[in-house]
Amino acid sequence: MIGIPVGILGTGKYVPERVLTNHDLEQMVDTNDEWIRTRTGMSERRIVSPEQASSDLAYEASKIALEKAGITADQLDLIVVATITPDMAFPSTSCILQEKLGARRAAAFDLSAACSGFIYGLANAANFIATGTYKYALVVGAECLSKITDYTDRNTCILFGDGAGAVVLGAVPEGRGFRSFELGADGSGGELLKIEGGGSRLPSSQQSLEEKRHYIQMAGSEVFKFAVRIMGSAAEEALRKAGIEKSEIDLLVPHQANIRIIQASLNRLELPEDKCMINLDKYGNVSAASIPIALAEADEQGRLQEGDCVVLVGFGGGLTWGASVLIW
Ligand code: UT7
Repeated sequence: MIGIPVGILGTGKYVPERVLTNHDLEQMVDTNDEWIRTRTGMSERRIVSPEQASSDLAYEASKIALEKAGITADQLDLIVVATITPDMAFPSTSCILQEKLGARRAAAFDLSAACSGFIYGLANAANFIATGTYKYALVVGAECLSKITDYTDRNTCILFGDGAGAVVLGAVPEGRGFRSFELGADGSGGELLKIEGGGSRLPSSQQSLEEKRHYIQMAGSEVFKFAVRIMGSAAEEALRKAGIEKSEIDLLVPHQANIRIIQASLNRLELPEDKCMINLDKYGNVSAASIPIALAEADEQGRLQEGDCVVLVGFGGGLTWGASVLIW
């Protein structure tokens, strides 16, 4: 990246209390714990209460990130929330979060890039800071996927969970911070992962509800093949742009979609599993929130030391992908 060096000043995460285990899912659809664990690596995921919405989760994660960064909400210049489960169509979840936090000075917008949304958000916010436009930005991934999941569809309902992760971005000393971003999209694969209902093409109606068009639809094995290909190549491209070798990676923080996708990425990057943050066993796939939750958890566990080379990489609906290399 060119301009003022930008890095992560604080991280935070929040996951709801309620746990949905593989055994719970056995009672809901024709599946079993062994299939879910071996095909996905997941054991449980967190589920919001009926009255909780994405901004509530975002608020909890953001408070922690602000505290760790040592700044107050009114110092924020920008809030970006990446989500596919906004509280409502508008106002944006970021505006709702701005009000909850009391971040009066901050511009606020939501970003829609599905599971890649957090990395897209980082790239946006980092560039505002690198150019000197803004000093501090809050980037959040927040999702209530349980509210858009069809719990009669075993192809999807075993995968998704709820939660939020947040980071505060600001200037850092020379030699640290973001080194590169690699973002991409391929709209020709849009049919593979989508929610059709509720937009301007198919507004909500009795019929759209009856046809379950407001739930996630996914061509799992097609998305899987795309993910295996793109996670490795996006990470390699971000490394190339940063001028950093694979062997220099200290921690890979990938999107937590499937343990087999993560293992394929590790093989391609020639990395051992202990250089990878994996928490999908506990939280499942939390879309835009997966990477910031994993990053915050790595931080909590002391796995991020000053000077470490960290690679973030994700993929998602759109289709979209994103990767970033940063020096912690
Ligand atoms: O953030 C991005 C979001 N999406 C993803 O990351 C999804 C990427 N895809 C995947 O992770 C995998 O494709 C899945 C985990 C969704 C599925 O695993 P798979 O190894 O690709 O399985 P499959 O779809 O090829 O299905 C294999 C079999 C099928 O049975 P038949 O047709 O071979 O008799 C499925 O019906 O497994 C069956 N199956 C299940 N069995 C038990 C599918 N879902 C389940 C289930 N429990 N939950």
